[in-house]
Amino acid sequence: MQGRSRLMAAALALSSTAFAQAFPPHQPAYMPAPPAPPENPTTVERALLGKALFWDEQLSSTRTVACGTCHRHDHGGCDPRAIDATHPGADGAFGTADDARGSAGVVQHAKDGDYRPSQAFGLRPQVTRRRALPVINAAYETELMWDGSAGSSFHDPETKQLLLPEYAALESEASYSPIDPSKMAHLGRTWDLVARAIGEMRPLALASEVPPDLAAFLRNRNYEQLFTAVFGSPRIDVARVAMALASYQRTLISDQSLLDLALVGVQQLPEAALRGHEVFERHCAACHSDLESHEHPAANDFRRTGVRPIDEDVGRHSVTHAPDDLGKFKVPGLRNVALRPPYMHNGGLPTLRSVLDFYNRGGDYGPGIDPLVAAIRGQLSEQDQDDLIAFLQCLTDPRVESSEPPFDRPRLWTEGPNVPTRIGAPTSGGSRYSPQVIALSPPYHGNRFFTVAAENVPPNVEHSLFLDFARLPVPGLLLGHPSYLARLQMRFYGCGKTREAADGKWYASKVLEVPPDPFLIGLRLYGQWFFADPNGPGGFVSSATFTAVVF
Ligand code: HEC
Ligand code: HEC
Repeated sequence: MQGRSRLMAAALALSSTAFAQAFPPHQPAYMPAPPAPPENPTTVERALLGKALFWDEQLSSTRTVACGTCHRHDHGGCDPRAIDATHPGADGAFGTADDARGSAGVVQHAKDGDYRPSQAFGLRPQVTRRRALPVINAAYETELMWDGSAGSSFHDPETKQLLLPEYAALESEASYSPIDPSKMAHLGRTWDLVARAIGEMRPLALASEVPPDLAAFLRNRNYEQLFTAVFGSPRIDVARVAMALASYQRTLISDQSLLDLALVGVQQLPEAALRGHEVFERHCAACHSDLESHEHPAANDFRRTGVRPIDEDVGRHSVTHAPDDLGKFKVPGLRNVALRPPYMHNGGLPTLRSVLDFYNRGGDYGPGIDPLVAAIRGQLSEQDQDDLIAFLQCLTDPRVESSEPPFDRPRLWTEGPNVPTRIGAPTSGGSRYSPQVIALSPPYHGNRFFTVAAENVPPNVEHSLFLDFARLPVPGLLLGHPSYLARLQMRFYGCGKTREAADGKWYASKVLEVPPDPFLIGLRLYGQWFFADPNGPGGFVSSATFTAVVF
């Protein structure tokens, strides 16, 4: 009864004051303002600059991945794509027990945009080995990441120079992804290159539905002008980018769930959730202490629940090297948890129900499972589980779920209708090769890194990539087909040869420039690969056609 009486007491004590305090919608209402480094006070302008950077897919060298690609507010700050994005785990083999669900980043590629097949993913986007954590309420965490590797002092990731001594875990974390070749970067990308690229972008050029406050802040200014407005000079560097991104994330405070309203006494939890809260107090709250009060909205702790064997991922141990920390992972905040399947550091549990099953088994892999988890074994009746789920569903902040401020955001290009799609199918005839076209780049006019690739192609043969603004009717007619492209200097690309990847598979990759000609906007582009192959119809095999509209 402890849990229920606490909520009742809160109701009595606080109902008179809570709504009396007027607060602007962008301000945390019930939780304290999160700590920030004194050198990086959270201002509206810094946060808006950070918001632009966070949702700008141009921050990745392929222009296909923003921070927000893997951290979506309407999914609790996590990545809904993780449900079907697989990392093969330590054994490198897909379809085995150590596979994990993670977040897809970039295809491995060189500085000039040329794809370089990766060991595990070939020419497909690489997937992180751990599931994304929420950026919402991350501002209260002293150490970020599942293993706490982003600590509160912020060092330049390249020079290791100390930039901010404390409260800067968000700055630390923000400095890694843009140079991480599995998440956002080309191989060998440095912060100098990131900064230069940002200087050349039109902010949010790929995004649509930019929220009004952000649009008003951008006012068609370029990033140098925005950095000048925010930091006093046009310099773009790792410290400033990280500070802006961190400031934005310090505004992502979720404290308007039904539980939050119940904690301050202005709402009641439904009966089932009240019962669930009691079960939670009994079995879960000792670790998940973030729900206990508004004063401490993060657990800031690492525990071993035994999701997977220790040697698969040592977790916290990789940071502290303490034997005691083997297989420990961050106790994640539970606000908005219902919005963010799949669960656990490996994304291995698809539903809340499966998480409760896991606890009711007392964890899966010893040794060293936390006694608090081991003790739950067999303790959760069906009723308890139903009630717990009812309770966990009361942790959803409606503003998060429906993308209302401060969780409003632009629409990403990759979420829009204009992502290249495939039509038709490969033609291989009697050949054993059936080329798969890979076209992921945004076809905006002026994109110098429009990469098109193909896999499952014949070894060491000539290839051609045909592009046109009309779908090629019959392959034999290709060369004579009247083409806008010749006029627009976008030729067909021939005379290349397929290349061998480290794993012995063959592929083709070509980086094109979409001419910076506004006349192209709105034209639908078609492309198709052809590879010489005596066993194919007419002496070649071809891929499906890809198509997208230039913008
Ligand atoms: C390709 C997907 C991807 C991209 C892009 C990405 N992240 Fe993440 N992010 C993750 C994953 C996966 C984790 C958890 C990884 C881990 O703990 O090992 C994470 C963790 C975090 C965390 C830690 C949250 C916590 O509670 O510990 C923060 C903060 C964060 N990311 C911010 C950012 C920012 C800012 C950017 C852009 C500069 C960014 N992320 C880009 C996938 C991504
Ligand atoms: C010993 C501390 C501990 C106890 C007790 C505990 N948890 Fe957890 N919980 C964790 C840790 C640590 C993780 C992350 C584990 C991992 O991914 O390896 C976690 C993960 C979760 C997640 C998944 C969150 C996400 O984003 O993936 C949910 C949901 C959850 N716990 C609910 C509960 C409930 C409900 C109970 C009680 C029945 C409970 N926990 C008991 C420590 C604990």
